[in-house]
Amino acid sequence: MNLILFFAVSQHNLTVVGADGMYTKQLTRDFICISPGQAMDVLLHANQEPNHYYLAARAYSTGVGAFDNTTTTARVEYNGNYTPPSSPSLPSLPDFNDTQAALGFIRSLRSSPQRCPVPVPINITTQIVTTISVNTLPCPNGRTCEGVNGTIFAASMNNISFQTPNIDILKAYYYHINGVYETGFPRFPPFLFNFTADVLPLTLSIPKEGTKVNVLNYGATVEIVYQGTNVVGAIDHPIHLHGFSFYAVGYGLGNFNRSRDSMNFNLVDPPFVNTVIVPFNGWAAIRSLVYALSSRTPPNMGHGDGVHCEEWKVFKSNIASAAARYAPIVE
Ligand SMILES: *[C@@H]1O[C@H](CO)[C@@H](O)[C@H](O)[C@H]1NC(C)=O
Ligand SMILES: *[C@@H]1O[C@H](CO)[C@@H](O)[C@H](O)[C@H]1NC(C)=O
Ligand SMILES: *[C@@H]1O[C@H](CO)[C@@H](O)[C@H](O)[C@H]1NC(C)=O
Ligand SMILES: *[C@@H]1O[C@H](CO)[C@@H](O)[C@H](O)[C@H]1NC(C)=O
Ligand SMILES: *[C@@H]1O[C@H](CO)[C@@H](O)[C@H](O)[C@H]1NC(C)=O
Ligand SMILES: *[C@@H]1O[C@H](CO)[C@@H](O)[C@H](O)[C@H]1NC(C)=O
Ligand SMILES: *[C@@H]1O[C@H](CO)[C@@H](O)[C@H](O)[C@H]1NC(C)=O
Repeated sequence: MNLILFFAVSQHNLTVVGADGMYTKQLTRDFICISPGQAMDVLLHANQEPNHYYLAARAYSTGVGAFDNTTTTARVEYNGNYTPPSSPSLPSLPDFNDTQAALGFIRSLRSSPQRCPVPVPINITTQIVTTISVNTLPCPNGRTCEGVNGTIFAASMNNISFQTPNIDILKAYYYHINGVYETGFPRFPPFLFNFTADVLPLTLSIPKEGTKVNVLNYGATVEIVYQGTNVVGAIDHPIHLHGFSFYAVGYGLGNFNRSRDSMNFNLVDPPFVNTVIVPFNGWAAIRSLVYALSSRTPPNMGHGDGVHCEEWKVFKSNIASAAARYAPIVE
């Protein structure tokens, strides 16, 4: 459920025509790469010899630690008069750790601009750069924790690990209930270091805890750069904004460098999606127009407070999903 998957059908190409409910330019590949939270419309042209063909999916996983490395399969069976082989061929899928294959596919998705409801924001009023890190926190009393040295795994954005309030943030905003959240979620990482260095000091591992939001004006054009880090351990982070679609304008490995990387943003035909994969030890940039509100608690996510970015990646069962989030709220 929590893994990014490679998917392919033996001896057939796949043509992606839509992502997250929005048309894309046709993209034909021999495999797709899809993360939790993403949806893709994919066409299969049944133009091969009548036969049985395996379709297969397995994980793309770069993080440390165990993951489900099994391959799930099903068969495509053509109608007709033929004798199927006892064991049809399996499609070849990229290696588990093939970041270039995953990123190459993700970067190839393009929207059909004339089908998109809003143009790509060009003049940005609000820029946000936020780290996304895996962290450790002391083990709460009465629990056993599987993190490093008996700590509990946590997650943070700009070094703030989200504490779920008892009252929904949007409700607190709407009814002016004080004390539920604080404003001033940092728009820039509070401490600059080589986010993707091979070795990082342990002193960076423990985040602050808090319930901070960043309030955006209606009509603001926002750009958010999500920077993955190697604090505790790097992983890929599928990220979504509840109820919002946005343009995924850029991806890269290593540290985001504005003067170099913003030149390469795709502002012509970026995909208009609601989930973006922040690559392992890399970054992803999105642009959006603040135009709507939505408040929804997805089941089993353990956080429930309105419009925000969120870790889709849930770690192993007893690991806290304490993701700090950024909550754009319409004024
Ligand atoms: C899957 O993981 C198990 C346990 O870590 C390992 O023994 C096995 O070799 C792995 N299989 C593949 C195909 O990588
Ligand atoms: C992927 O894993 C294989 C086998 O474990 C290893 O030989 C290879 O170097 C890894 N590739 C990358 C890009 O990390
Ligand atoms: C962006 O701002 C410039 C300068 O203010 C203006 O000329 C241009 O029309 C704006 N573009 C869009 C797409 O709003
Ligand atoms: C775990 O604890 C040991 C002993 O206190 C310490 O030397 C080591 O650095 C700790 N490791 C991590 C990753 O925190
Ligand atoms: C950051 O760390 C990576 C991985 O070790 C290294 O390749 C890169 O050169 C470092 N960047 C800087 C600016 O030191
Ligand atoms: C996060 O904040 C804590 C508490 O101030 C600090 O010890 C830690 O080094 C910070 N980590 C990062 C990555 O900024
Ligand atoms: C960022 O990119 C610019 C332009 O390529 C380069 O001059 C600069 O050294 C880079 N900064 C870092 C910290 O790598």
